[in-house]
Amino acid sequence: MTKTPDTVLITGASGGIGLELALEFASHGFDLILVARREAELEALAKRVRREHGVRATVVPADLLVPDAAANLVKTLEGLDLVVDILVNNAGLMDMGGFANLEVGRHERLLQLNVVVLTSLTRRLLPAMLDRGRGRIMNVGSTSAFQPVPSMAVYAASKAFVLSFSESLSEELKGTGVTVTALCPGITKTDMYERAHGEHDVVQNIPGSFLSSVEDVAREGYEACVAGQVLVVPGLPNRLVASAVQLYPRWLVRTVGGFVGRRSTR
Ligand SMILES: NC(=O)c1ccc[n+]([C@@H]2O[C@H](COP(=O)([O-])OP(=O)(O)OC[C@H]3O[C@@H](n4cnc5c(N)ncnc54)[C@H](OP(=O)(O)O)[C@@H]3O)[C@@H](O)[C@H]2O)c1
Repeated sequence: MTKTPDTVLITGASGGIGLELALEFASHGFDLILVARREAELEALAKRVRREHGVRATVVPADLLVPDAAANLVKTLEGLDLVVDILVNNAGLMDMGGFANLEVGRHERLLQLNVVVLTSLTRRLLPAMLDRGRGRIMNVGSTSAFQPVPSMAVYAASKAFVLSFSESLSEELKGTGVTVTALCPGITKTDMYERAHGEHDVVQNIPGSFLSSVEDVAREGYEACVAGQVLVVPGLPNRLVASAVQLYPRWLVRTVGGFVGRRSTR
């Protein structure tokens, strides 16, 4: 009997890391459920993976910031009779600059998408994976999860949540057949990076060796996810920095971060 391909749900699949993860999973024969707001981009991606890889791709346009978005998305999936074997919580928002200068309410949207929706989708889709005794969850964090980042205070804190939540859950689920992976990329050339690059000198001065390609991030994320690896930091320079900050005293890491970060908050 031929095995039915596993189905991967990817949030934020209309661009950047999410789109590239979709291409990576499709190239290995996985069926896709593509979620984001921009329907035309999702349809174009679905058409491309059907043509190039012969996989099934279902487009589910959704604004994950509307109230009850996670519950409604799961209801839509049930209506379409779609089973999620792999959940990739990728959609996210980023902010740079002084916290006091952030548009009021912007931090709430960031926390809602990066933290609340990610947790809620995981909570809603996990029980069926446990019943089947198999599944994968991959949460997209960031290297900003490993230390405080002055000038990105809310974003870094949201990614610290993603890392902590993913590591805790991966231990809770040991032996169940369901694994949890935290994909923690460094700065990656996507629209998110281009927006920050256009607005902040500090981003323009980042050495090229610290810039990851979206293809490398997606490949390393895919491999870690299917292998059930708990944590993956794509790129050697990022891995070295993420490890080094664990070795230095917290006050020193914070102070160096403050020195760099304050320049972009004023
Ligand atoms: N780029 C980096 O340097 C970097 C580094 C580390 C971690 N990350 C993380 O990687 C993930 C992807 O980032 P990226 O760089 O690929 O960003 P991106 O190019 O800005 O793409 C973000 C994706 O999220 C979707 N999205 C945003 N708001 C949404 C909403 N309200 N409802 C549904 N979908 C929404 C967008 O689709 P629509 O606009 O169509 O809705 C888009 O597909 C994020 O979690 C980010 O924090 C990025």
